[in-house]
Amino acid sequence: MIRLPDLLAGSLIAAGPGYMPERASSVAEGVDQVFALLFWMSAFFLVVIIGLTVLFVIRYRARASRPGPEASPDHSTKLEIFWTAIPLLLVFVIFAASTKVYLAMTELEPGANPQRVQVTARKWSWWFDHAGGKGSKELHVLVGRPVELVLASTDVVHSLYVPQFRLKQDAVPGRFTRMVFTPTVPGTYPILCTEYCGTNHSTMSAVAVVHPDQASFDAWAAEGKGGEESLLQVGVRVFEEKGCSACHSVDGSPGVGPSIKGIWGKDEKLTDGKIAKVDENYIRESIVTPGAKIVAGFDDMMPPVPLDDREIQGIVAYIQSLKEGP
Ligand code: CUA
Repeated sequence: MIRLPDLLAGSLIAAGPGYMPERASSVAEGVDQVFALLFWMSAFFLVVIIGLTVLFVIRYRARASRPGPEASPDHSTKLEIFWTAIPLLLVFVIFAASTKVYLAMTELEPGANPQRVQVTARKWSWWFDHAGGKGSKELHVLVGRPVELVLASTDVVHSLYVPQFRLKQDAVPGRFTRMVFTPTVPGTYPILCTEYCGTNHSTMSAVAVVHPDQASFDAWAAEGKGGEESLLQVGVRVFEEKGCSACHSVDGSPGVGPSIKGIWGKDEKLTDGKIAKVDENYIRESIVTPGAKIVAGFDDMMPPVPLDDREIQGIVAYIQSLKEGP
């Protein structure tokens, strides 16, 4: 049962989680602080506004000595400025506080070596392809190691939510979304879908397992491996089967199209002078609508290649594997 003292304690900045779920990720505390800021700001103004309303009702009620309303000024520039400036200031405070937390869930710290997991949502289940090749119905991560989740959906919009991580991100068909965090407490946590996606939306759940050490994670990664094709294997196979290798080299040598070696994360200069960063969405676009962004020095001559989501994820994994350096 939720008790009022717990509720209040949970909303206090820097206080324990109270009625909130356990905090198990690097961003959880920041999210709780933003929540507490909004909660206490709202509580303060609720008290002020209701208090003044009650006070004025009593103070200015109709009496025998005052049958009608008293005269009041119809405009005050000072007041107008006063009640415009304060909300404006508060909105900036909220913006600054929440942007800081939002950036922490979307940007990796420089030099971070994250564990990358490709998440695929479909009606009505989750699938997690872990770097290293293991696919699973469960998300497995290691305590203290940054995690980069890249989400895709094969049908409708879903949303991945882990209450203990205070993280939620939509999985949108036709594009990739991502979020980053570092798990801080070993354990097993529920993963929920929080975007209504049809009949079995309510049962579209999974678990996130945070391993306490590398040995435990490795033991899981080794068990039962080798059955299905990893994303990287899908990518290597599709690259050959669809004839991509006829124009795109994998060793950096020149061809009809740009080589795919060492392009991951790079800024590509385009024919129109713009710069495009090579990420999941750039690669998807370059496969599905190749004419959209042409790398400077090449011609617009690649036909669109109809790949399914898993094949595109495979190509992404292949290009990542050809990244130069560590
Ligand atoms: Cu998937 Cu709701």
